[in-house]
Amino acid sequence: MRIQSLLVFLTAVLLSSSTPTAGNDDDGVTAEVNLLCYSCRGDCGRVGGRILGPRCNLRYEKELIFRENYGTLQIDLPKGGKLQRELGDWHNEPTLLLVIVTALPLSTTAVASECDRLEEMTTRVNPLYYDCGCSKYNRSDSYHNDLGILAGKLRSNISASDSNFFAFANVGSVYGFVLCRGDYKGPQCANSLNQTIQDAVLNPFICPFYKDVTIYSDQHMLSFSGDQYLIYKDDRPAWVASNMNYVKNGTATSDGVSYGERVEELLNGTADYAAFNSSDLYATGESWFGEGGVSMVYGLVQCRPDLKRELCRQCLAELISSIPKQFTTNSGDHRVGGRILGVRCNLRFEKDLFFKETNETSKLHMPKIYQMLELRRRIQIALLCVQENPDHRPHMREVTTMLSNND
Ligand SMILES: *[C@@H]1O[C@H](CO)[C@@H](O)[C@H](O)[C@H]1NC(C)=O
Ligand SMILES: *[C@@H]1O[C@H](CO)[C@@H](O)[C@H](O)[C@H]1NC(C)=O
Ligand SMILES: *[C@@H]1O[C@H](CO)[C@@H](O)[C@H](O)[C@H]1NC(C)=O
Ligand SMILES: *[C@@H]1O[C@H](CO)[C@@H](O)[C@H](O)[C@H]1NC(C)=O
Ligand SMILES: *[C@@H]1O[C@H](CO)[C@@H](O)[C@H](O)[C@H]1NC(C)=O
Ligand SMILES: *[C@@H]1O[C@H](CO)[C@@H](O)[C@H](O)[C@H]1NC(C)=O
Ligand SMILES: *[C@@H]1O[C@H](CO)[C@@H](O)[C@H](O)[C@H]1NC(C)=O
Repeated sequence: MRIQSLLVFLTAVLLSSSTPTAGNDDDGVTAEVNLLCYSCRGDCGRVGGRILGPRCNLRYEKELIFRENYGTLQIDLPKGGKLQRELGDWHNEPTLLLVIVTALPLSTTAVASECDRLEEMTTRVNPLYYDCGCSKYNRSDSYHNDLGILAGKLRSNISASDSNFFAFANVGSVYGFVLCRGDYKGPQCANSLNQTIQDAVLNPFICPFYKDVTIYSDQHMLSFSGDQYLIYKDDRPAWVASNMNYVKNGTATSDGVSYGERVEELLNGTADYAAFNSSDLYATGESWFGEGGVSMVYGLVQCRPDLKRELCRQCLAELISSIPKQFTTNSGDHRVGGRILGVRCNLRFEKDLFFKETNETSKLHMPKIYQMLELRRRIQIALLCVQENPDHRPHMREVTTMLSNND
C-alpha cells in the first residue's frame, strides 16, 4: 500500500476523531493528547521523517519508535497482526508505517491548519537536531553573503567525487564544514545537503540568521560559525536519542552477557576499527545477541576525519562510556537502540540494520545458522531495492558486491 494513501487515511481519522476544544491556540493548555496526523503530499518516498513544531510535532518511520498501546491504530496489518510482526518484523518493513504525533489540544481546524503547515515542511527538511547558538546576523551583513558562498563550496566539494564525505571551508569571516555519514558519500550526500543548505542558509527557517549553527540529519552534519575555534573545539555530545523499545533487565545470553554489555563490546570493537584500521574514521559492526526478541545488534561509529586517530578513539570512548547511563531505564531495562551525536564523533546502535554493509563491517559472535542469516541478508537487499525513493535504492553494482560479500 502506498504511504500516501495511508497518510490520507490517517488524516481522515484525525479529523473525524479529534475532539474540538477551546479554539484559542495560546491559552496555555499544557496537557498533551495523542493524535494521528498525516505528513506528506508529493514526496512520499521518504522512509522516515519528523517535524517539531512549537504546538505539535509528528514523526513517521518504518521502524517502531514509540511504545505501542491499545490506542495505537493498526491499519492493513497482515493476518496475525501484531504477533506476526513481532515474529518477523523485517519481513513486513516496507509496508509498515508508524506515525506518532503529539499535539496540544486545539480545535479541529487549528490542528488541520497546523498539519498543513507541517506537511509543507516535511517534504523539505528532516533534521534530527539543530543547535542555533546565540549570535545573529542580518541580510545586509556580509556574513549572509559569505555564508551562501561557503555553503556552495562545501556542497561542490562533497559532490565532486563518489568518495568525498568531509569538507571544510572558510569564506570571509565564516567557517564551516560538512561531514557525511560513511555510507552516504559524494553526490548522494550532496543531494540531501542541498536541502539543508536551502533551509538553513539560503532561505533560512532553521536557525534563521543565526551565526553559529550545527544541524544534524541522518545523512550528514553541517556546521558553520563566525569563530573557527568554536567549530574545532566543541566536543560536547550534542544530542542523545533512544529507541523507545527496550530489552528487559536480566535478559542475557547463555554466557550471561547482557544486552548493554553486548552493545558496549560491539561499539568498542567498532570504535577500535574506525580509529586504527579504517581509512576514514568510520566503521560498522554486527554482533549476535539472540535473546529477548533481539537477534542481532548493529553499530556504527564515526569521527571527523580531521581528528587524530587517538583523539577519535578517545572521543568515542567517552560516548561509549556514557551508554549505561544514557540508555538504561530506572528498572534496569536497556534501550534497544540509541544514538549520540557530537560535533567530533558520533555513534548509533539498533537491532535492525540501518547502514550499508561492506566487507569491512565487523561481525562478532555470529551463530552457526549461517544459511538463515544469508537468507535474511538477501531479503534485506531485496527490500533496499524496492524503496519507493529511487535515491535510496542501491545501484546494481552495489547489490552485486553485497551479494558476493560472503565473509
Ligand atoms: C545589520 O548588521 C550590521 C553589522 O552587524 C549592522 O551594522 C546593521 O545595523 C544591522 N542592520 C540591521 C537592519 O539590523
Ligand atoms: C575542496 O575542493 C577544493 C577544490 O577541489 C580543494 O582544493 C580542497 O582541498 C577541497 N577541500 C576539502 C576539505 O575537501
Ligand atoms: C544542489 O543545488 C545546486 C544549486 O541550487 C544545483 O546546481 C545542484 O544540481 C543540486 N545538486 C543536487 C545533487 O541536487
Ligand atoms: C569497552 O572499552 C572500555 C575502555 O575503553 C572498557 O572499560 C570496557 O570494559 C569495554 N567494554 C566492553 C563490554 O568490552
Ligand atoms: C587493526 O590494526 C591493528 C594494528 O594496526 C592490527 O593489529 C589489527 O589486526 C587490525 N585489525 C583488523 C580487523 O584489521
Ligand atoms: C536488574 O536486575 C538485577 C537482577 O537480575 C537486579 O539485581 C538489579 O537491581 C536490576 N536493576 C535495577 C535497576 O532494577
Ligand atoms: C573490500 O572491497 C573492496 C572493493 O569493494 C576492495 O577493494 C577491498 O580490497 C576489500 N577489502 C577487504 C579487506 O577485503
